Amino acid sequence: MKTVLQTNTPLKGTITVPGDKSISHRSIMFGALAKGITKVTNFLMADDCLSTISVFRKMGIDIEVSDKEILVYGKGLHGLKKPDETLYTGNSGTTTRLISGILAAQDFETRLTGDASIEKRPMKRIMTPLSMMGADIKSEKDNGCAPLIINGRKLHGIDFTSPVASAQVKSSVLLAGLYADGPTSVTEPALSRNHTEVMLKGFGADISSEGLTAWIKPASELFACDIDVPSDISSAAYFIAAALLVPGSELLIKNVGINPTRAGIIKVVKAMGGKIELQNERVSGGEKTADIYVEYSKDSLKGITIEGDIIPTLIDEIPVIAILAAYADGTTIIKDAAELHVKECDRIDAMDNDLKIMGADITATEDGMIIKGTGHLNGGTIKSYNDHRISMSFAIAGLVSDAPVTIDDEKCVSISYPTFFSTLESLY
Ligand code: S3P
Repeated sequence: MKTVLQTNTPLKGTITVPGDKSISHRSIMFGALAKGITKVTNFLMADDCLSTISVFRKMGIDIEVSDKEILVYGKGLHGLKKPDETLYTGNSGTTTRLISGILAAQDFETRLTGDASIEKRPMKRIMTPLSMMGADIKSEKDNGCAPLIINGRKLHGIDFTSPVASAQVKSSVLLAGLYADGPTSVTEPALSRNHTEVMLKGFGADISSEGLTAWIKPASELFACDIDVPSDISSAAYFIAAALLVPGSELLIKNVGINPTRAGIIKVVKAMGGKIELQNERVSGGEKTADIYVEYSKDSLKGITIEGDIIPTLIDEIPVIAILAAYADGTTIIKDAAELHVKECDRIDAMDNDLKIMGADITATEDGMIIKGTGHLNGGTIKSYNDHRISMSFAIAGLVSDAPVTIDDEKCVSISYPTFFSTLESLY
């Protein structure tokens, strides 16, 4: 239980948020499959990425963790060993879905599961294409969810058209494609984050993309490399929102990844009338980064429609965007975001229930929500649904609500941002 202190103290200064979650996961996975030592700096030390480290350690990969860096002692594409026990992926959909693609091609059987949330999330979306490649992958309870039993097999290359824009699905198939007997392609309905494509190229894979399609050729080897993880725009999003909402704020968030497949929130904040600016734009390790400068602009925030191809580029930021919408003037319509139903919790239901508790005018729809912003929210006790992004979004809502916000169980922030509350509280 956590009550957020309302504040009138402007949020000023320069902050850094932790490393990108998607890139941190992939640095361990690809490092494990490469030959040599992959050095990772600014790795996200949060529960989800620790789950990835834990499963690869169980498959015989030495991973040295220090304050300065992570060293992954890769054993090559065929160097993983059969784990002695079930691989437990905690709350992490990325770990579960991406390693399924790798496990589908190993010469051993694995059982894979995670926490209560993971055991409810849809795995058919990876089971279908991996089975088309020849994989033997079963849902233990035959409900399309984990626990999964994966028996490694020889895989065939396929051309897969995914019904969902999901980087986890795309990456799972591309990783299996590394081991296939011919080229594999994945075409999505809208472009999802492309970190797998960018990073695997850096590890020496023959991978390319154009428009909505990514291709990979089977690999005989990957090669270790150094990865400096940019700060996570999904974590920066909470501080972008905080600075927009707390009067007098001027915040600089340093070295944030602004890969166009992730940076939809910048466009949305601009379209809503928020004062936000990218400074010092540069490219590091194939990923665009920038410092993000944000100024208080609650009084000029307007409702907008958010739909179509931009949705995958801000899918994890929709809860905090919904908070901004409630504090804006006018109607915000979020469409084409049915994927929110199958995140760490059902984020459409969660936002609908919690924003109603705070007195917002919100209507949940099949594929999103409609929020009539009134410029203010009451306080209230909201449920986190054990979802880190719901917790952090309502912590931001509570900074400027009429009465305090209490979050029933806020500890889940450790999934992606263990130091979230200490960073927030250090600012006022
Ligand atoms: C992720 C992909 C997205 C995102 C998740 C991380 C990734 O999920 O929501 O937080 O690292 O590939 P989907 O692939 O289900 O859209």
